[in-house]
Amino acid sequence: MTDITSQTKAALSAIAAAESLEALETLRLETLGKKGWVSLALKTLGGMSSEERTAAAPAIQSSRASIADALESRKAALEAAALDAQLARETIDLTLPAMAAPRGSVHPVSQVMDELAEIFADLGFSVATGPEIEDDWHNFTALNMDETHPARAMHDTFYFPDKTDASDGKSGEREILLRTHTSPVQIRSMLAQGAPIRLIAPGRVYRSDSDATHTPMFHQVEGLVVGKDIHLGHLKWTLETFFKAFFEREDISLRLRPSYFPFTEPSVEVDVGYSNQGGRRVVGGHGDAPGHAWMELGGSGMINTRVLEFAGLDPAEYQGFAFGLGIDRIAMLKYGMNDLRAFFDGDGRWLAHYGFSPFDQPTLSAGVGARA
Ligand code: PHE
Repeated sequence: MTDITSQTKAALSAIAAAESLEALETLRLETLGKKGWVSLALKTLGGMSSEERTAAAPAIQSSRASIADALESRKAALEAAALDAQLARETIDLTLPAMAAPRGSVHPVSQVMDELAEIFADLGFSVATGPEIEDDWHNFTALNMDETHPARAMHDTFYFPDKTDASDGKSGEREILLRTHTSPVQIRSMLAQGAPIRLIAPGRVYRSDSDATHTPMFHQVEGLVVGKDIHLGHLKWTLETFFKAFFEREDISLRLRPSYFPFTEPSVEVDVGYSNQGGRRVVGGHGDAPGHAWMELGGSGMINTRVLEFAGLDPAEYQGFAFGLGIDRIAMLKYGMNDLRAFFDGDGRWLAHYGFSPFDQPTLSAGVGARA
């Protein structure tokens, strides 16, 4: 009897002092476990006479009950303490940037579009957009390509089966198509805001064409400047200034080649000098120098007076220049990708390699091409 009482006392104080769930489990096994002394004591009751049992049982049973209660409350206390400690340890500061586990990346095309916007904003250009589902008036006619113009056939246009009514006061039905270039944004912007104007319009364009250097969807950036005394020198300076800032080097040589676009007159194609370095094309140096070559980046020219008229401006008062550059091309050249198709495969490994951190915002002060 005294034995049970003192054993119980000892067990209760050991349980109260247990510092861990493991220590508590050991104490449980020693007392209430199959071979614990309480369980063994309970078993002895079966071999006793009924008087002996009546005398011995209450002490053993109350010992078992009080030990079970003590184990349970100590367990609850230890678990609560462990949870508190975990909560204290795992506090998160939601104001910190999620740098610890970066997920996802900014596609090089998006990155280059941000770089373009940053550079041209510094030159006073705003960013305009237009619909990718266009009508043939904005995509062709107003750009001086009427229904019979051969340039229409060269655009490999995706047409929709339906036609639409001219909604803006112009007469007749219009074909609906996926815009083949960003130039219709010129028309929409001039019609909407008049002149003077200074904007870029980056976006998706579509042509039915597909091989290693052509995809049915690709990206262009349109540039448009209209004012009272804009001339070809402004175009050349703007392109040179842009490419120096974009490629972050001074030794850029541009070659402006006479060309033809229905919507510009005169028209010039824009080539940039580059060299091959370790299988990679690197911009810089004169394209005619030994080991160098020229790469075509886009078209440009002075806006055709007929286009100004279509867009509601008086060519006697206003003139301007426009350019259209392939964004994917200049991205490939700057960041060293060889295959255009990989841009649109959505392969996580390619994106992990060529993508940009969302925290790597292009700024003129930190460098528009800084990599994280
Ligand atoms: N829109 C032309 C193209 O896609 C490029 C261009 C734009 C040319 C503006 C001149 C002026 O080929």
